[in-house]
Amino acid sequence: MTAAPLVTVGAAGFGRELLDVVDAVNKASAETVWELTGVLDDAPSDSDLDNIDRRGLPFLGPVEPWVASHSSTHFAVGVGSPSVRRRLARLFEHHGHRPATVCHPTATFGFDAVCAPGTVICAGVQISTNVHLGPHTHVNPNATIGHDSVLGAYVSVNPGAVISGACDLEEACLIGAGAVVLQGLRIGAEAIVGAAACVTGPVDPGSVVKGVPAR
Ligand SMILES: CC(C)(COP(=O)(O)OP(=O)(O)OC[C@H]1O[C@@H](n2cnc3c(N)ncnc32)[C@H](O)[C@@H]1OP(=O)(O)O)[C@@H](O)C(=O)NCCC(=O)NCCS
Repeated sequence: MTAAPLVTVGAAGFGRELLDVVDAVNKASAETVWELTGVLDDAPSDSDLDNIDRRGLPFLGPVEPWVASHSSTHFAVGVGSPSVRRRLARLFEHHGHRPATVCHPTATFGFDAVCAPGTVICAGVQISTNVHLGPHTHVNPNATIGHDSVLGAYVSVNPGAVISGACDLEEACLIGAGAVVLQGLRIGAEAIVGAAACVTGPVDPGSVVKGVPAR
């Protein structure tokens, strides 16, 4: 198997965590799966650039000129914000680039769990049975997604969050670190659930809820 070239977006925190997931995928495989081309970012800090350099990866510059001037390759977006991730993913796809799906080898998956292209699954994640993850969904370390849940495109589930069974997380919503969403609930598109919240009822699209119970 020939390793597939992969460019990533984001030199900041999650962007470098994404690189760790890619490295782990390669280490767990008999042959290299992804050949990292380098990292794109519109406004990296000096320390981000230094961290990319110390990994031995080239910094490729801002996103738009690179995307428009290179032929089709795989890409993964290491940006935590769902709306920014959506804008970037659409830009890549508009120019014919292909989303990579990157799942850490320590993540577990139940029967019929589906990860759409662009999904990034971090270490220690547990995806239960019959779960569907939409395109460019991010599931951060040690989060749990309960059975029969559906996550729309660009959803972010932050570290340690627990999504109970049969939840419906609509496009581009964000579940904060350590939050719990009780079973069968709908989280509306672009809503934000605060860190450590306990969600006990449906959440309206675009709203922000926090606390226990979340309001
Ligand atoms: C809930 C959240 C979206 C609110 O963001 P914000 O609107 O910018 O809120 P602010 O920081 O201005 O704080 C507003 C008030 O809410 C409180 N607050 C903030 N986050 C809270 C949370 N998660 N739970 C309870 N209260 C919270 C603040 O203490 C502040 O209270 P005050 O008005 O009494 O001083 C955000 O704090 C959050 O939890 N985001 C998720 C972050 C996350 O998952 N981080 C991990 C990344 S890996």
